[in-house]
Amino acid sequence: MIHPSSSVKIGDAFNRVDGFDKVTGRARYAAEFDAPDLLHGWVVSSDIAKGKIAAIDEAAARAVAGVVEVITHQNRPHVAWLDRSHADEVSVPGSPFRALYDDEIAFSGQPIALVVATTLEAAREAAALVHVDYIAAPHNTDMRVALGEKFKPRKKRSTFVPPKARGDAKAAFAAAPLKHSADYTLPMHFHNPMEMHATTVVWKGDGTIVVHDKTQGAQNVQHYLCSVFGFSAADVRVMNPYVGGAFGSGLRPQYQVYLATLAATMLERSVRVVLTRQQMFTHVHRPQAVQSVQLATDASGLLQAIVNDATTSTSRFENYMEVVCNWGLMNYRCGNAAAAYTLAPMDTYTPGDMRAPGAATGMTLFEIAIDEMAYRAGLDPLAFRRLNYSDVDAMNDKPFTSKSLRQAYDEGAERFGWHRRSHAPRSMRAGCDLIGWGMATGMWDALFMKTTASARLLASGELEVATAAADIGTGTYTVMAQVASDTLGLPLSQIRARLGDSALPASPVEGGSWMAASAGAAVQLACQAIGQQLLAAADRVEGRPLGQVKLEAVEFHDGRMSVRGNPARSVAILDILAASGQEVLAAQATAKPGVGDLISMKRKARNTHSAIFAEVRVDEELGVVRVSRIVCAVAAGRIINPKTARSQILGGVVMGIGMALHEEALTDHRLGRVMNHSFAEYHIPVNADIDTIEVIFVDEPDPEVTPLGVKGLGEIGIVGTAAAVANAIFHATGKRVRALPVTIDKLL
Ligand code: MOS
Repeated sequence: MIHPSSSVKIGDAFNRVDGFDKVTGRARYAAEFDAPDLLHGWVVSSDIAKGKIAAIDEAAARAVAGVVEVITHQNRPHVAWLDRSHADEVSVPGSPFRALYDDEIAFSGQPIALVVATTLEAAREAAALVHVDYIAAPHNTDMRVALGEKFKPRKKRSTFVPPKARGDAKAAFAAAPLKHSADYTLPMHFHNPMEMHATTVVWKGDGTIVVHDKTQGAQNVQHYLCSVFGFSAADVRVMNPYVGGAFGSGLRPQYQVYLATLAATMLERSVRVVLTRQQMFTHVHRPQAVQSVQLATDASGLLQAIVNDATTSTSRFENYMEVVCNWGLMNYRCGNAAAAYTLAPMDTYTPGDMRAPGAATGMTLFEIAIDEMAYRAGLDPLAFRRLNYSDVDAMNDKPFTSKSLRQAYDEGAERFGWHRRSHAPRSMRAGCDLIGWGMATGMWDALFMKTTASARLLASGELEVATAAADIGTGTYTVMAQVASDTLGLPLSQIRARLGDSALPASPVEGGSWMAASAGAAVQLACQAIGQQLLAAADRVEGRPLGQVKLEAVEFHDGRMSVRGNPARSVAILDILAASGQEVLAAQATAKPGVGDLISMKRKARNTHSAIFAEVRVDEELGVVRVSRIVCAVAAGRIINPKTARSQILGGVVMGIGMALHEEALTDHRLGRVMNHSFAEYHIPVNADIDTIEVIFVDEPDPEVTPLGVKGLGEIGIVGTAAAVANAIFHATGKRVRALPVTIDKLL
């Protein structure tokens, strides 16, 4: 255990610095901030999936004691977004949904009114009394029907990379002796972070507002509110110091922040809006997917052709795109490969990012197909992957800054005991259980985004590092504090990391697993600038203990600055601060992909990789599946904090187990509505579903990928995990299930 009074290094394992505040309830979330005369808003959701509102009768609702206003499209104030575009940092091509805009209904559960009352109970009671007459229009929420309307997306989103073909995949497939061809599907997944989407808008009375929002980007929400409502940036402060999980659901501003701000500006009062768990099933979700994979090999199992076509669902008003098809084309050596990506529109809200968007779908389904091809070729699934291993990004014919997947395969297989596996399905048993061992590969991007951080060192020796980033549970506070401690040698107890406030230095939204690499690099630069100031001030210390040295020649440790290799020439930072005569040393720095770096970004691929090994036990008579063991070996560059890093992988693996066995939004297509919109019926793994998970971090030094050599870990844990489980289920039972989740009915 690391004591908070000691300084830490990058690479040390210790508890998250915000852990105490979280477990003691001191951490406050968006719906927990209070304000004088706070009003409570309750969202009224549409009963129909498509059509128009014919009439709204609010009389009964308005009669409820405590009700202040019922806001609908008929009486809402005019807002600036009616006149101009209001795209946010992560919006997608199309026309963003505008709550309470007009009488049109575009999806079931669409917010159509906000009841505002002095108590939550009054708002909820009145919301049930709002009577709406609809004129329903035909709708479709059935993917099979939507496929008839599928289209190739045209406008590109910046992070969307269309797949690139090579060779002649169709001809090679036709000519090859061994083939596999099948369709794989994934249902819609809905976001279920512990904290529901919530906003508390504090009306300051001087025309300014403070917005406590559940979001992954305080500044993104600030810019959104400014463009939607016509505020100037100085009048809106958005805060999200703690986020109760988000997984991508908080990347785009959700409709509760719009509704709460609308009500606050209309009523000139503070307003809180919290979505119910059921309303969490009325907005962002992982799109439904159909993926057709064709693979072919020669007689020895060498891949000859890869065809990977995928369609994902979108809404009718926006084209949400994911990188679904590319991963398999990048990961395997094969001269002939092609992929097509299409969208299928449905009458739902626009899907969005959900932990490893695109890869969690596309790589996972592809890795089930790879397992099938391995069996077709008569090869062990791991041997098949080793045989077809590519050292370069095979889709773009580019080297990687690093790819230690081979080591992940080796170390994962060794820890799992893969060599003891018998090849044939149904060949391993324990009592009534069929045992299955399966594996899969995971892949994600190693991203780095322009981020600014500040550092302030007080005369007391206390250091504050800050950026407007979010910590959605991923450990950003800890990364910032750890990098600061590593850079300036100050104990953790003297370091305060601040984030989650739009007033802090510029940060992107927290997503894409880029925050540790990006905020870490920014904090390091800011602290190095402080180090430079300390070095200059050290000249004023009596006796000039450091003499004439450059920053590169000194080291910081345990509150001291010393000449490297010469511990006698050392001075306490507190003494330097005292000698400096300054109350505070301050610096701000921006980490961004530099010019030289940008060139190599084009020249080289940057990715994380993983190898997942899964053991399942399937009750032969009942079909009940238990995932008894997972080994996940991850190659993700330099690991800042092995303990918090492991937690990220554990969470990703658990979500992957949910993807394999549990998660599935079930829509009644007659109503166009998700019917299992609660934790009782939308299943996610609970503690009893999770057994042993072992995480291995493969040694992967990579100074080129990002300034700290960090690749990011928030998402890689989910990618491929469901494939490893599904492949293990095949090995146990001989049944190949190509439609996730693998539920009992599909096994019996
Ligand atoms: Mo993640 S889906 O980029 O929050």
